Amino acid sequence: MKFFADTAEIAEIRDLAATGLLDGVTTNPSLVQKSGRDFVEVLREITEVCSGPVSAEVVALDYEGMMAQAEKLRRVADNIAIKVPLTPDGLKTCKTLSSDGTMVNVTLCFSPAQALLAAKAGATFISPFVGRLDDIGSNGMDLISDIRMIYDNYDFGTEILVASVRSPMHVVEAAKMGADVMTAPPKIIHQLFKHPLTDAGLAAFLKDWEATGQQI
Ligand code: E4P
Repeated sequence: MKFFADTAEIAEIRDLAATGLLDGVTTNPSLVQKSGRDFVEVLREITEVCSGPVSAEVVALDYEGMMAQAEKLRRVADNIAIKVPLTPDGLKTCKTLSSDGTMVNVTLCFSPAQALLAAKAGATFISPFVGRLDDIGSNGMDLISDIRMIYDNYDFGTEILVASVRSPMHVVEAAKMGADVMTAPPKIIHQLFKHPLTDAGLAAFLKDWEATGQQI
């Protein structure tokens, strides 16, 4: 399973890249706003640190506008994946860009039917937002298993990119279901390391080692 970092904070991305765990990055307009940085400038820096897919989202709502913005964004680096919303114009843009060899991430997916449409439009990635479904009392992970079944039934090459990840259990469940990618805030990726028995075991080993009086 590939790990993408869901952030536009360059320091966090550098930190994760150093662990060898980083396979890509996703950004969205809210994350760019939070970073307080110029979009193109921050994208350029991210692509210098991460050689995997870096998602950059268009904000136009019509096909012509999305295509014009995608042109500018994909010029930043070869590893930019253009992020388009799951709308008719978004999928039309997806079809044009993917036929041209550009990676496309179709975002804001909340149903299996939408995921089917994105795959038919040639999406490289489909981004189902599990956390936002949980927020409204649905089960976000059910959507992942439905999409996995549909994509496997028809051998679609579109990768399932689990988004809106809010906890380590979302990551584990997604991996059990065979999702291809998950994107999470760096904080969640760091939480994956944590187990109280690891901390307790390490403390006990260090205490016993100190008692031997030896050094390595
Ligand atoms: C994915 O590409 C999105 O940027 C992200 O996962 C949305 O997460 P949120 O629902 O926590 O904002």
